[in-house]
Amino acid sequence: MTKVVQTIAELKAFVRDTKQAGNTIGLVPTMGALHEGHLTLAAQARNENDVVVMSVFVNPKQFGPNEDFDTYPRDLEGDTKLAASVGVDVVFAPSTEEMYPTDGGITIRAGRAAEILCGASRPGHFDGVLQVVAKLFHLVEPTRAYFGQKDAQQVALIETMVRDYNFPLEICTVPIVREADGLAKSSRNVYLTAEERQQAVGLYNGLKFAKEAILSGKPMGIAMMAARDQIARETGGEIDYFECLSYPDLKSIDGQTTDVLLAGAVYIGKTRLIDNMIFNLKENN
Ligand code: PAJ
Repeated sequence: MTKVVQTIAELKAFVRDTKQAGNTIGLVPTMGALHEGHLTLAAQARNENDVVVMSVFVNPKQFGPNEDFDTYPRDLEGDTKLAASVGVDVVFAPSTEEMYPTDGGITIRAGRAAEILCGASRPGHFDGVLQVVAKLFHLVEPTRAYFGQKDAQQVALIETMVRDYNFPLEICTVPIVREADGLAKSSRNVYLTAEERQQAVGLYNGLKFAKEAILSGKPMGIAMMAARDQIARETGGEIDYFECLSYPDLKSIDGQTTDVLLAGAVYIGKTRLIDNMIFNLKENN
């Protein structure tokens, strides 16, 4: 039976009992509107921990003033059923007031690596992500926390925070779950019209094209430009960014770089979609 917990007091009582019994806790933070991507994270958490807590909270601090906070899909009842289907023990679904009852003005600044890629067009977004994730870590006291590679910059920043600020838990990264045609599963895919849904896969096609071109030895600049043209053509959308950076430190590529993050964001109609691939530049050598 999956239990829905909406207050911090009830959550903390559950965490205390779980810890006292000597059980490990896997935490899966989400904003709800669950799909197979989220459920894959939860299934892995189920395999690796005694108890699984999933948070379902649309975090206002990570949305910009003109973003989709108000319209973000919300369905706690449906989400709870899906969470139950993969063996989640507790769905923690607090209200905004429960999570942010006070504001003493202290903020977390995600820093340089948050000002590129998604951070460039979403100022303050990753500060808000780190704020809520830090709070969830303190509330749930997880042994392990699960994040998707779908949001590669997000998980890189969370790993950095955990390492540099000695959060006592392990971060586990789960590969991107895709639709049959390759489109990365996303809660925002529901915003797409039928035509936009067809176009959306162009981002994935562009990433594949760029990866193949880079690995076949094409100069990076030329490969990226050709892929950019292809994405613009196939999606009919406006490219927010399309970049290849070293991974995990997200710096410009040089002769020493081995692992890279190839990442893109495209506006299709009003919907902003992201996708990425992580690979080794020497993969085929
Ligand atoms: P949300 O977008 O709901 O995503 C929750 C988790 O599911 C994230 O770790 C995300 O990377 C992962 N995920 C989403 N789609 C995926 C896919 N197709 N394949 C694999 N994993 C996928 O990311 C957030 O929420 C928030 O920023 C959060 C971390 C909960 C903080 O508010």
